[in-house]
Amino acid sequence: MQRKNRILTGDRPTGQLHLGHYVGTLKNRVHLQDEYDCFFIVADLQVLTDHLENHSSIEGNVFEVMCDYLGVGLEPENTFFVQSQVPELAELTMYFSFLVTLTCLQRNPTVKDEAKTYGVTNISYGFLGYPISQAADILAFKADLIPVGQDQLPHIEQTREIVRSFNRVFNKEIFALPEPLVGEVPILVGTDGTNKMSKSLDNFVAFAHSPEETERRILNMVTDRKRAYRKDPGHPDECFAFKYWSIFAPTDTLVVRQECETATRGCKECKAQLAQKLNEHLAEIRNRRQCYASQPDFVWDILATGTKRARAVANETLMEVREAMKISFPKLGDLKGGR
Ligand code: TRP
Repeated sequence: MQRKNRILTGDRPTGQLHLGHYVGTLKNRVHLQDEYDCFFIVADLQVLTDHLENHSSIEGNVFEVMCDYLGVGLEPENTFFVQSQVPELAELTMYFSFLVTLTCLQRNPTVKDEAKTYGVTNISYGFLGYPISQAADILAFKADLIPVGQDQLPHIEQTREIVRSFNRVFNKEIFALPEPLVGEVPILVGTDGTNKMSKSLDNFVAFAHSPEETERRILNMVTDRKRAYRKDPGHPDECFAFKYWSIFAPTDTLVVRQECETATRGCKECKAQLAQKLNEHLAEIRNRRQCYASQPDFVWDILATGTKRARAVANETLMEVREAMKISFPKLGDLKGGR
């Protein structure tokens, strides 16, 4: 039987996931999970790229991300795993590192942006090189499809470069080219109406937020900058709240547009209604999230099972890789032991 095609994707455990992640990629993952054999990586090592001195909450954040995943509807039967607990990934990163030039890493726009955002001027070898480790995350599982947010595209391109050079240099078609998949709203503007929704800018609505907190955040949202008074007609196409309507409650947009353009609806009531819609939309996710969050042993168990499976699969790939690179040393026998 032919194996199902594989998905590998994941997130850094830096805190709770939010609506930007949802429309950017989580929704795709939920829809595709039955069709694909899915591996979800909780990328704890990647957190160390820029949070090295502020990493005390990794374990708690791994748990939060897992609750978000399960809450949005990813089934526990998928393979969820913790990056640091699959040492094969570190090994593969090392091997791939010989195939990538420094100039290529220095050109990666996402790495450059992150270095700027986090104020890292003296960039470490590991930070600059994390796209290589991400390629290892993907290729250790020979994944076919990578559903990610738009900011991750340079890393997938880097992965494809590595596939090409690995297969050429070692003269073996071990890896196929993985394809990225970005969600229907690649960039969701946050509640400040200016920047991409992100935790660090505090312009986000998280799955873990309460309905009240969601309402507070939506009510603070910037709307139509051209509409000075309640009696002025609004400009839905230039309004951030309207953008949210069209994403999260598209069937209501006709009415909202009409009432806005005729000034029969004010921005405040519009946002209050929007918050209510969002809360309805999120209720199921939040209930499910809460249900998992109250069973931590079960959640850790899902990760333990997934991490074992991930190791077994990565180990198979690594055997092929070592052989292709002529560093498998069968004469030394079975050196297993340790971990
Ligand atoms: N870079 C991703 C993020 O910042 C996390 C990640 C690590 C990842 N390894 C991956 C995503 C492999 C897709 C595939 O959220």
